[in-house]
Amino acid sequence: MSQLTDEIKRRRTFAIISHPDAGKTTLTEKLLLFGGAIHIAGAVKSNKIKKTATSDWMEIEKQRGISVATSVMGFNYGDYKINILDTPGHQDFAEDTYRTLTAVDSVIIVVDVAKGVEQQTRKLMEVCRMRNTPVIIFVNKLDREGRDPFDILDELETELKINVRPLSWPINIGAKFKGVYNIFEHTLDLFTPNKQVVTERVEITDVNDPRIDENVGEDDAAKLREDLELIEGVYPDFDVNKYLEGKLAPVFFGSALNTFGVKELLDCFVQIAPTPRPVKAVEREIRPEEENFTGFVFKIHANMDPNHRSCIAFVKVCSGIFHRNENYKHIRSGKFMRFAAPTAFMAQKKNIVDEAFPGDIVGIPDTGNFKIGDTLTQGEEIHFKGLPSFSPEMFKYIENSDPMKSKQLDKGIQQLMDEGVAQLFINQFNGRKIIGTVGQLQFEVIQYRLLHEYGAQCRWEPISLYKACWIESEDDEALAAFKKRKHQFMAIDREGRDVFLADSNYVLQMAQNDFPKIKFHFTSEF
Ligand code: G4P
Repeated sequence: MSQLTDEIKRRRTFAIISHPDAGKTTLTEKLLLFGGAIHIAGAVKSNKIKKTATSDWMEIEKQRGISVATSVMGFNYGDYKINILDTPGHQDFAEDTYRTLTAVDSVIIVVDVAKGVEQQTRKLMEVCRMRNTPVIIFVNKLDREGRDPFDILDELETELKINVRPLSWPINIGAKFKGVYNIFEHTLDLFTPNKQVVTERVEITDVNDPRIDENVGEDDAAKLREDLELIEGVYPDFDVNKYLEGKLAPVFFGSALNTFGVKELLDCFVQIAPTPRPVKAVEREIRPEEENFTGFVFKIHANMDPNHRSCIAFVKVCSGIFHRNENYKHIRSGKFMRFAAPTAFMAQKKNIVDEAFPGDIVGIPDTGNFKIGDTLTQGEEIHFKGLPSFSPEMFKYIENSDPMKSKQLDKGIQQLMDEGVAQLFINQFNGRKIIGTVGQLQFEVIQYRLLHEYGAQCRWEPISLYKACWIESEDDEALAAFKKRKHQFMAIDREGRDVFLADSNYVLQMAQNDFPKIKFHFTSEF
């Protein structure tokens, strides 16, 4: 087998997602611990943005700055090469997370056993569903009092709209938590609260093994058998293909903080999680084992040091082998470029790499050539798609406060939008620029960065909008009629696509009723 196919087969590139506080950071850290990438818990300076910092966004930016190193965490685990792509915990940066999801082959969702499915999880799952991303669910914090596991499973199914299949099962919960029965491997894992070490494992033959009774007591053993019988009756056998199609989510229970159930999750994950998957481009589907290198930029990380307006563009390798110092075509500009100092992220360190394989992420130092979604190839005209924008939640007019610096402002806005910091719409009626974000913090970040990196001053003016939706129609006349009637509320996005700015849900519904030939989309990918 060639080196390329060997390398592809051993790669697992994924993201861990959750509602803030469910335990994403803790779980990530524990996975790194098993991979030998760190040696003690608490070593990860994560992308996590502390709750206390919500009003102090400079602190948040600092933390985001630090997080370059943890943006991608690569490590070897047995024969596998694992790449974890970190996502910002703060929901105001949810758009970053959506984009990161375009670069992973699967995800692990962390759910807090007491809180169940929370809002952010629901939203992120929608993105996974759009792309049929395979999902494994880790129900966390079993050492705390929480909900009945059967109730949690029901909630996962209804709230996340995906079939689930438990592959491990808890024996009690909270103060009485004794461990989990590993359905996938038929072992019993006994719980000992400990932040650093691996749990004790009891090898058993099957669920009737008396060693279960010896270890957890007769009552709990009986309850476990009852539960397992019920599970076998209710849930069909685990079908790995359904998981790979994104139709079935295996569920594990554990406690990330106590390093409990984490190794079981990881061991199952490396076995069943997909290797780098084919990626759809406008022209054709690209298979990872193709000889020629292709890749796309899914994230741009700005340097917060104003003296160095440099960024790192994160490129996901989709096919072939990426080589340092080789000429690659930047499709959007048509130019060939060579990269002398591409970096990879291994074991918490950023190193210059000579080559990278499908599933890997390469960091390329950049001074403004790259835009999110850009494609690199060996020459073939390929445009990767699937980096959707979602309708923002908040909108403001952006105005220039320093007439002497309008050029700087325009340039700054343009570059920040290329980086994907927020979305820009230009109102076609009054020509004003509207910035759309997911959260208030993004406005503050933009204003600060415009001033400190571009010397431009902006101010925000309110605009009351409910949603931006991309519109299209097969009927040109209907489209023209709509745009005429709504001319005050029409804008174009950065790609020149028509966007309708609805100022209320009611107005949007009326528009949908009145103009049945117009299709309204809430993501830019349709
Ligand atoms: P996030 O990245 O999803 O936002 O969550 P994070 O891992 O930071 O975990 C949120 C809080 O939950 C942390 O406590 C963490 O220690 C705790 N936690 C994570 N896993 C478990 C678990 O299995 N059991 C219990 N009991 N707690 C867990 P914190 O007090 O907010 O932060 P810290 O000061 O401990 O870092």
